[in-house]
Amino acid sequence: MTGDHYFTAEPSTAAAPREVEFSVAGRDYALRSAAGVFSAARLDPGTAVLLRKAELPAPDTTGALLDLGCGFGPISCVLASTAPAATVWAVDVNERARALTAANAERVGAADRVHAVAPDEVPADLSFSQLWSNPPIRIGKAELHELLRRWLPRLAPDGVAWLVVARHLGGDSLHGWLVEQGWRVDRHASQKGYRVLRVTR
Ligand SMILES: C[S@@+](CC[C@H](N)C(=O)[O-])C[C@H]1O[C@@H](n2cnc3c(N)ncnc32)[C@H](O)[C@@H]1O
Repeated sequence: MTGDHYFTAEPSTAAAPREVEFSVAGRDYALRSAAGVFSAARLDPGTAVLLRKAELPAPDTTGALLDLGCGFGPISCVLASTAPAATVWAVDVNERARALTAANAERVGAADRVHAVAPDEVPADLSFSQLWSNPPIRIGKAELHELLRRWLPRLAPDGVAWLVVARHLGGDSLHGWLVEQGWRVDRHASQKGYRVLRVTR
């Protein structure tokens, strides 16, 4: 046993590579995953609900999309495949997660359009038309709020954020907090105990 969490910056656990297969919008994905990253053995059920229920970007979407807390990159790979003219910024504090996302972007033929980077490496002047996240609830409420206060304002004026949160992990209280912060929040979908929130200005 080690003290690694999925949000550890440099996991010390042996990588133990594996494959995660799933389908979204009629397209099949076979991505690389490894120990020390979030939901290494399968597509997380919350992420699956998000990718099934939220509105994926239109094929002609251009500009920059943000995958906040990319893990091994399932959301980034789906966004990059669905919107082949868009650029995806895949952000994670976990170095192994970033390396896997870069490898998976290559697998889906989007290595040049997916930037897997640490949070501070995102250009400061970039704004995003879409932000996608299965956010890291387990870092704690104060940290989660700080994370969202940092990244939601990076949305373009008409941008949209899609978040998935388990109801039992505080999905409804996060909804309330976002409204208090002045965001418009729609509970776009609810499935298997997960809330899919659509957040706009
Ligand atoms: C719930 S996981 C989702 C991972 C991936 N998007 C998926 O759906 O499988 C949240 C991710 O957020 C990352 N994370 C934690 N704190 C972060 C921070 N401050 N900035 C960016 N990412 C962070 C974690 O390392 C983890 O990979």
